[in-house]
Amino acid sequence: MARLRVGVLISGRGSNLQALIDAAADPAYPAEIVLVVANHGDAGGLARAKAAGIRTETINHRAFNAKQGFEASIDATLRAARIDLVCLAGFMRILSSWFVERWRDRLINIHPSLLPAFKGLDTHERVLAAGARFTGCTVHFVRPDVDDGPIIVQAVVPVMPDDDADSLAARVLGAEHHSYPLAVRLIAEGRIQIRDDRVDILNAAAPAEVVMFNPIK
Ligand code: GAR
Repeated sequence: MARLRVGVLISGRGSNLQALIDAAADPAYPAEIVLVVANHGDAGGLARAKAAGIRTETINHRAFNAKQGFEASIDATLRAARIDLVCLAGFMRILSSWFVERWRDRLINIHPSLLPAFKGLDTHERVLAAGARFTGCTVHFVRPDVDDGPIIVQAVVPVMPDDDADSLAARVLGAEHHSYPLAVRLIAEGRIQIRDDRVDILNAAAPAEVVMFNPIK
């Protein structure tokens, strides 16, 4: 069966992009990364894509007077590459509802919290300030509201008593690198259905038990 054609949008170091590249290196993985688009040329993830032989494009938002032109250029590039699924992986531009609706149900994002908690920036600082015991990451379909949309995969990560934002970010990032390839695989396998703007996963085994993890000995 043909593999799902994935385009990845990045702004930064691209460690989630790398996780997707690594997953897709397995010929049995049902998706391939065919295009990486960055919104500026300094994005470290561009080198990761090139190292893997993946086509890259830089579409700099500063080169456009208005968001519409920037997004139309990304949209045309994705369509010309016959992309089936767009993954936002640390893409730090807010996309308009025009773009989001054009790619409705074919556009996903990863966010470093358990949505709908802690939307927006500086997530880990706010988790710590709130004294939350657990955080995590979420892969979700994109809707016009920021960090909103049907949830595909989540992973829970404990907050340790001596955490700072960097140590917490690193622990969450480890969970992200499992969650994003899993979400793309579920979509590529046709196991995701959206009903009433919620995701059903077909043939998902129910967890045998719920484990409460207590980090405090
Ligand atoms: C990741 O932690 C991702 O969840 C976050 O940016 C980081 C990108 O890292 N995304 C957002 O905060 C989006 N609102 P990466 O470039 O190494 O994948």
